[in-house]
Amino acid sequence: MQEKIIVTGGCGYIGSHTVITLINHNYEVVIFDDLSNSNLKILDRIQKITGIKPHFEQVDLKSSEATHAVFKTHKDSKAVIHFAAHKAVAESIHNPLMYYQNNLFSLINTLKAQQDNSIKHHIFSSSATVYGNPSQMPITEDAPTQRSFSPYGNTKKMAEEILEDFTNSQSDISVISLRYFNPIGAHESGQIGEFPTAIPNNLMPYITQTAAGVLEKLMVFGNDYPTKDGTPIRDYIHVVDLAEAHLKALQRLLGPKSQPLEVFNLGTGNGYSVLEMIKAFEAVSGSLLNYEITDRRPGDVPEMFASTALAKQVLNWEASRSLHDMIQSSWTWEQNLRKGLK
Ligand code: UD1
Repeated sequence: MQEKIIVTGGCGYIGSHTVITLINHNYEVVIFDDLSNSNLKILDRIQKITGIKPHFEQVDLKSSEATHAVFKTHKDSKAVIHFAAHKAVAESIHNPLMYYQNNLFSLINTLKAQQDNSIKHHIFSSSATVYGNPSQMPITEDAPTQRSFSPYGNTKKMAEEILEDFTNSQSDISVISLRYFNPIGAHESGQIGEFPTAIPNNLMPYITQTAAGVLEKLMVFGNDYPTKDGTPIRDYIHVVDLAEAHLKALQRLLGPKSQPLEVFNLGTGNGYSVLEMIKAFEAVSGSLLNYEITDRRPGDVPEMFASTALAKQVLNWEASRSLHDMIQSSWTWEQNLRKGLK
């Protein structure tokens, strides 16, 4: 019998890649998504790649009634992978209540519905942003979490605190929280990637859109950081590696060694500066990128890269795709989008 897994936000960037990995490993997937930052065409893409169209429920998880109803329909599910959340840092600074309301209500309603329907396993999409400006590299999971510069970041930190209190209570639900470093890249089929809805905040889509001529110029936010070339260092990870980590986390939760709450970094352990990313992109695309150094962006920290030891030891997972794979797949995806793949 196939095990049924609920994937909230399964039409989104990381969610859709994870759905493909789950289907390819013979799980039955049902997606809950409000389509606020995604669209239904993704289901056909998933079908094209895997041969299976996942079951889909359009639902607003901010509503406790709607959440209750949809979970009741799918109470035979074994676990929830909870991606559904807003993620634009700048938007969260302008509209913090929208972020607290969406990201925290949806988590609370989901956990309550899991409790009511005895769905005992939960994987949470967290972020390395919970570490704030960490003092030691590589960052290990026991590094202190810090109040974030942005409401978005704070929703992730608060969500982890909610999960800690929840799993400390009488709850028999076990949770794995996955702290993503900087996900980039796209599916090797060229069919699935990140669908940009506004001008991107993040580096990689900004680079590819500049190279594609959609944006005029990449602004490099500061070259006076205490790093090798003065630009900030991040741990970029291929989205398909990230998807595979969710599979491993799920297997752990469903297996005999499941713990009440575990937290893992998902990164490669390698740090690249902004200028190194630009150079690597130029090498892959074969053309020069139009960029200019400008002022620092508020909230940016000099350096972030993961210790990958815990995920390797406990989940038996490590990232396998190279920086070249990440950049090549991002660029192929961008070009496919521009060719009219909508
Ligand atoms: C950002 C968010 C973080 C969030 C993550 C995932 C901030 C301060 N941090 O992480 O909370 O979890 O995205 O969405 O927004 N850069 C440029 N020019 C650009 C864009 C980026 O120089 O146009 C630089 C940044 O200064 C940074 C690096 O590229 O040094 C990576 O930026 P980005 O992709 O936005 O990721 P983070 O800042 O690490």
